[in-house]
Amino acid sequence: MPVTVVVGAQFGDEAKGKITDFLAANARYVVRTGGGPNAGHSIQIGEEKTVLHQLACGVLRPGLVGVSGPGMSLDPFALEEEILELDRRHLLKGEVLISDRAHLILPLHRIEDAWEEELRAKQPGGKAMGTTLRGIGPSYADRYGRWGLRVVDLTRPALLSSRLSMLYVRKAHLPGLPPQEELRANLSELGSRLAPRIASTEPLLWEAIRRGEVVLLEGAQSALLDVDYGTYPYVTSSHPTAAGALMGSGIPPSDLDEVVGVLKAYSTRVGEGPYPTEGSASEQEYLREGGGERGATTGRPRRCGWLDLVLLRYASRLNGFTSLAVTKVDVLGGLDEVPVGVGYEDPSGARVDWPPTVAEEFDSLRPVYRRLPGWPELTTRLKARIEREGVHALPSTLRRYLDYVTENTGVPVEWLSYGPRREETLWLGRGATAQASRGLENWAA
Ligand code: IMP
Repeated sequence: MPVTVVVGAQFGDEAKGKITDFLAANARYVVRTGGGPNAGHSIQIGEEKTVLHQLACGVLRPGLVGVSGPGMSLDPFALEEEILELDRRHLLKGEVLISDRAHLILPLHRIEDAWEEELRAKQPGGKAMGTTLRGIGPSYADRYGRWGLRVVDLTRPALLSSRLSMLYVRKAHLPGLPPQEELRANLSELGSRLAPRIASTEPLLWEAIRRGEVVLLEGAQSALLDVDYGTYPYVTSSHPTAAGALMGSGIPPSDLDEVVGVLKAYSTRVGEGPYPTEGSASEQEYLREGGGERGATTGRPRRCGWLDLVLLRYASRLNGFTSLAVTKVDVLGGLDEVPVGVGYEDPSGARVDWPPTVAEEFDSLRPVYRRLPGWPELTTRLKARIEREGVHALPSTLRRYLDYVTENTGVPVEWLSYGPRREETLWLGRGATAQASRGLENWAA
């Protein structure tokens, strides 16, 4: 598996960080390919929990290189703080590389993010999008509008100065901008400190692939938040899909071997936007408490609900998943039945098996559920047995649930996460789920 991409199959927060960290044990490079400080990838090593925002999880393992890749929008001040904090906690075991092509999120972008959210909310019938307020949207807009500053500019004082001046002209309508000269000086000093970690990362990755080393592409956010293929406009501003991961790393499609889609056994969403299988108030409370479902970046309570197979099949098709990783199955342990959204019905009662292009049109669709038998609570004892004996120790109803996911996507469930610790991850093998059939024959006909 020289090049493997790990992407979210739902609305983000599927525990991609944990799965990537697990797979990273065999890798040489781990590359974050998009997004920026809007992400929060939680990893628990022993009892110590850490959340990575702008660094790839490769930085946590000795001998690995964690690349903050070209497709990212990076807040350079927060990035430096993240590196220092990991170092202080003695968790920085790998090397950190920052792509010279990644774009910068400046304080102006955060101000603009908040300003835009307020503007949306003030319009008649309008509402805020519920962004993370980290400046993501404005930074990507500037990238495509060709106003952006890139990491490389931090190391080119004359360029930094002229590009910043241009940006200040462009943003003159915004309130409360920091003094330009002060920001320039701070960025320039920061550039000198970060310079040893800044590199043209594409040639390093191409060379690593040529040598047969494993490169992992760590996607952030998820398919349903993709700016083009997600529930627009309730999306992020990057392409958190397998194709986007290639663009965001500079690796060509012909080098890609595996695409791992990560999903929770249930689902969550943060911020506004369609969510057909959102649970009732009590169901949400149950899942939120059991799963600790609060934003790793913003601390906002997440909306919670059930697995939606319509969206999962869509995400599978879009990303070409070659395997799935199902996480947080322990959270559902002890339920008699586990609801799964298998389709939608429109107001006439007709079955809909495909997500609409228009976000508002989700409102008229009613999810159709199938209730699968639940599995027992995963007690410490049972978890220890699973750790020792592997797939054979899994409750049969849990295995049936995983089979059901495979049957309905055509993609084998190859990884299972049954607790927050690194060790509570199980490789099931490609043939472990019944009818694992790479491809989508089971449902596409
Ligand atoms: P932005 O990416 O901050 O612009 O936010 C746009 C939408 O994407 C909001 O609904 C956010 O809550 C959501 N979002 C952004 N990053 C993440 C993430 O890492 N996990 C889950 N939702 C996210």
